[in-house]
Amino acid sequence: MDALRATALSKQYRWSGGTNQALKSVSLTVPKGSILGLIGRNGAGKTTFLRIASTTLLPSGGKMDIFGHDVVQETNLVRERIAVIPQESRPFYWMNPRELIYYFLTLRGHTREDAHTRAEQALSELGLLEYADTLVSRLSGGLRRRAMVAMVMASDAEMLFLDEPTTGLDPVARRSVWEAIRKAAHAQRTIFLTTHYLDEAEALSTRIAILERGTLLAEGSREEIAQKVQHPYRVVVSGGFTQGELEGYGEPTWLEDRWMLFTGEKDAREISRMALERGARLSVAPVSLEDIFLQIVGKDISRDEEGDDEGA
Ligand SMILES: Nc1ncnc2c1ncn2[C@@H]1O[C@H](COP(=O)(O)OP(=O)(O)OP(=O)(O)O)[C@@H](O)[C@H]1O
Ligand SMILES: [Mg+2]
Repeated sequence: MDALRATALSKQYRWSGGTNQALKSVSLTVPKGSILGLIGRNGAGKTTFLRIASTTLLPSGGKMDIFGHDVVQETNLVRERIAVIPQESRPFYWMNPRELIYYFLTLRGHTREDAHTRAEQALSELGLLEYADTLVSRLSGGLRRRAMVAMVMASDAEMLFLDEPTTGLDPVARRSVWEAIRKAAHAQRTIFLTTHYLDEAEALSTRIAILERGTLLAEGSREEIAQKVQHPYRVVVSGGFTQGELEGYGEPTWLEDRWMLFTGEKDAREISRMALERGARLSVAPVSLEDIFLQIVGKDISRDEEGDDEGA
């Protein structure tokens, strides 16, 4: 069964001064138990999508359901099964993390005893025990964020919406959040996550979706998305080649003291052979998710710019 299904979902923000089409006919399904990483530039529409899914914003068109329940018509049924960390979350300042989690759970209908056990477990999992009794108002931004993660993890929600859960977290804390997310997915919970850290999206997600100016450009496993790019290899050479020569294989970029270019497998092999003959230093690797993202989004932007030129 699919945890989330969006069909031709659109959202237009309207205000007295104008409108903004934040989502344009987005169709997306998220299988139960998967970790979906939604990535995209600032303003792509990630938070808009997540807010519609978490029933805090109405769509302008299309349809979305979560575990078969319509997010507009069956709001309460949806809310029972999800938990959310919004992008701009402000946990209650007058509580400490232990109380925050405990009250959140009792509000969701857990017994006191269950809420207590779950809270302690989540605090320990996210390395928050030593801060459990400190007022949230005295915690650093990253610790507040972690308290929010612990809060949703502690719940029994089957689907978790995390809007940039690790922004502002130190590298160690970030990994404790990753662990918690993986563990949740292991327990068959579905995770919908947005992030600007593409290494994070790559490390965690079972499926990746790329949103750009309201349009879904790609969706699938990392391998499926990698197949969408024309140039699946990243080649870096220092010396031995002229720009003109490399331009025959792709679009080289000068990085201070070496050339970097994305290219196909056959060309990558040929450049490697030539580099070897010329004694030039070279590295060849499959593209990272960041490279894939830049290629897919970059292509979309330049396609649009060409369109603009024609119109002018
Ligand atoms: N309340 C609002 N009123 C009008 N326009 C809005 C509103 N909220 C968002 N937008 C616009 O909708 C578009 C999508 O915004 P959204 O917050 O969904 O992007 P995002 O992908 O989450 O970006 P970021 O990575 O910066 O968080 C942007 O162009 C934004 O300016
Ligand atoms: Mg956002």
